[in-house]
Amino acid sequence: MKLTGVFLSAVVLLGVIINVVNSCPPSDREALLALKSGLTEPYLGILNTWTGTDCCTNWYGISCDPTDNRVNDIILRGESEDKILQKTGRSGYMTGSLSPSLCSLDRLTTLIVADWKAISGEIPACITTLPHLRILDLIGNQLTGPLPSDIGKLSKLTVLNVAYNKLSGQIPPSIVNLKSLMHLDLSNNQLTGPLPSDFGSLSMMSRALLNRNQLTGSIPVSLAGIYRLADLDLSMNKISGSIPAQFGSMPVLSTLNLDSNQLSGSIPVTLLSNSGLNILNLSRNALEGNLPDVFTARTYFTVLDLSYNKLKGSIPKSLSSAKFIGHLDLSNNHLCGEIPVGVPFDHLEATSFSNNDCLCGLPLMHVC
Ligand SMILES: *[C@@H]1O[C@H](CO)[C@@H](O)[C@H](O)[C@H]1NC(C)=O
Repeated sequence: MKLTGVFLSAVVLLGVIINVVNSCPPSDREALLALKSGLTEPYLGILNTWTGTDCCTNWYGISCDPTDNRVNDIILRGESEDKILQKTGRSGYMTGSLSPSLCSLDRLTTLIVADWKAISGEIPACITTLPHLRILDLIGNQLTGPLPSDIGKLSKLTVLNVAYNKLSGQIPPSIVNLKSLMHLDLSNNQLTGPLPSDFGSLSMMSRALLNRNQLTGSIPVSLAGIYRLADLDLSMNKISGSIPAQFGSMPVLSTLNLDSNQLSGSIPVTLLSNSGLNILNLSRNALEGNLPDVFTARTYFTVLDLSYNKLKGSIPKSLSSAKFIGHLDLSNNHLCGEIPVGVPFDHLEATSFSNNDCLCGLPLMHVC
């Protein structure tokens, strides 16, 4: 009788221990509850699932390391294929701000709080102390203030996406220390000042989207040294100076958008002869000089937009030997002379050539 009692209490005790071991540490739970109390999500009720002692089980968007139950990932997306969003038929909406208490989740590898439209306040500066952080995605909110000045401390960060917010201030120079960074999206904010001149130190970077800010200064030549860079968008800023000729010899660059800036000088010859570059938008700058005669049967552009510049001279005949030109826009320059005839031009409309000094031939009405 007594023995059974001892045995039973031992079983109960063991059960309690297992339960404690299997649930998230109280400190991680407290941090998440503080994050929850700073946010309001009125329509879906997803934060209502953040209740009970075990934050690793059935807390929406939370996942833990199965070996020690520390919180690894916070993934809260306001626009996704998730059932909970599909069911209500509306996209996510959340107000409030990001509590600095999340910085005590020191095993966090993924922090995604994306597309909630109305989360405001600053990015807690202490996130730079999260040593394991690989993905930081806060796109589509209303975050204000600067990027943390010591963001470069996040040595494992591969994705930094803070696009579509209201961030201001300069790009912190320490950003060039993000040695693992592959995908950078700072677009659609209110960032000012220049790009760090040693931006090219980000040697793993394949996408760099910085469009729609108020960046100034010139394009750092060092960017051309990033071997993996495939997609660079600096459009709709206030960037001046000339386009580094080195961009023409970047091995995998396929999209280059520099439109709506204050760039001057001529278009580097190698940029137009680089057959890997398929989308090139240099529209609305102050580029001058002639269009170089460097096109070949390997020329393949889905977009070649050079409109609203100060280009002069004629359209090189070689452009008609191109393999493909999907969208060509040479309008609003000072070009003159005969529009070449050939297959890549057959589908183009007059708007591709309008408002030049003296272009003639099809598809313009103006006979040569
Ligand atoms: C190129 O950039 C201009 C100016 O920013 C924009 O209006 C235009 O739509 C872009 N062209 C293409 C084909 O995307």
